[in-house]
Amino acid sequence: MKSFPPYRIQVVKEIPITTRQQREDALARASYNMFDLPSNMVTIDLLTDSGTGAVSAAQEAAAAQADRSYAGSDSYYRFRAVLDEVTSYPHVFPVHQGRAAERVLFSSVLKAGQLSLSNTHFDTTRANVELLGAEARDLPCAEFWNLDSTEPFKGNVDLAALEDTLRSEGERVGQVLITITNNGGGGQPVSMANLRAVRALCDRYGVPFFLDAARFAENAWMVVQREAGYGHLTPREVARQAFALADGCVASLKKDGIAPMGAVIGLRDPEVAKRCEVNLIATEGFRTYGGLAAHDLERVARGVEEVLDPNYLRSREADAAYFAELVNRAGVDIVRPAGMHALYLNAGRLLQHIPPHGFPGHALASELYLAGGVRCVELGSLYLGTFDEDHNLVTPAPFELVRVAIPRRTYTQAHLEYVADVLADVAKNPTRVASYRVVDAPPVLRHFNLTLERIPPRP
Ligand code: F0G
Repeated sequence: MKSFPPYRIQVVKEIPITTRQQREDALARASYNMFDLPSNMVTIDLLTDSGTGAVSAAQEAAAAQADRSYAGSDSYYRFRAVLDEVTSYPHVFPVHQGRAAERVLFSSVLKAGQLSLSNTHFDTTRANVELLGAEARDLPCAEFWNLDSTEPFKGNVDLAALEDTLRSEGERVGQVLITITNNGGGGQPVSMANLRAVRALCDRYGVPFFLDAARFAENAWMVVQREAGYGHLTPREVARQAFALADGCVASLKKDGIAPMGAVIGLRDPEVAKRCEVNLIATEGFRTYGGLAAHDLERVARGVEEVLDPNYLRSREADAAYFAELVNRAGVDIVRPAGMHALYLNAGRLLQHIPPHGFPGHALASELYLAGGVRCVELGSLYLGTFDEDHNLVTPAPFELVRVAIPRRTYTQAHLEYVADVLADVAKNPTRVASYRVVDAPPVLRHFNLTLERIPPRP
């Protein structure tokens, strides 16, 4: 039987329909930076799945009942009850978003000169490690490097490399942080077998093991679908087992909390929790709200319940799979197999006439915007490459990808069909796609703030 979304639409928001000329003007005014495009010039916004999901009537009803007491509000206790149950951590702190959770936790466990080891650090996660003077080192599994491989758990960490590093670096390793699902690595899941092996290694070498659990429910669902021995469990049971394996977590709840704002830090160690709490109170807010308004605590608490509904997760997975099929029919390869929160288009393969220093990923993302008002963002040399002082690309990224994120409960299959049609049109004549040159960029978090120039293709 075909799966379908377990909800109906009660409140809608109009989306802007624009002309090609309006989009050309808007993108030029934004200096070809997707983050500088005003959203009223975007028809289908697939820039991120973060904070962009549709909230439910039940979330809004809970938000309306929020208790705004400074300390010990009812809303905090509801948030606690849900997160205590799912994570099993004795110390749970609300935080305003994932990167605040990273900053507060890492500054309590990492020292300058230490190492953070991961399957892949997300960009803000890496930045928060590096701001402490520590080093963020990614150790993705071998299958990660083969975009076409359909291995089910390409988000896994490379266990042999992890063990080697733990052995050779000794005390220098301050933490192991596993990102579920691996957003920087194609949205691929991490298996429970991999998490169990990480637990064993961290025990052997006495290093704390944390999860970056922004997409904990999607990871759990893919484990239920793909990993032997888990098919009979609910996603909630798998998520609980995953959290139970770690010493704690940071989790942006703007993703699998289906909330506009919010995150959580969960911890077992009372000493680390004490250090985090002091930092939290000084920089985010009191421990019972952590920089969130009470209505956000309520939306998150309810969202974490809703996201674990198997009917919801089944329909979300089916949407991503359907979208992947349409994209493949359009003649565009993606990082395989499709995950759940985004598709990662292989722009390097589609736009072979554009070398890395012409930024094929950005070129494809720009063309999708110009052709159909679809916004998404490159994950290629613009984002991961290294540059000299004159903004020339020195080291390209290993792949030239475009991430097309799928906001939760927001777009219908008809919207995804429209995006696939736009992509098919672009893919028909790839050599007509223009390349780009960086005009200016700041030294840190370059991709958010750069300006570019369009270089039309030779006739
Ligand atoms: N960790 C992961 C794996 C993420 O994907 C993100 C955010 C964060 C941490 C930081 O959380 O945004 O609440 O501060 N990812 C968004 C994205 C921005 O588009 O992938 P945040």
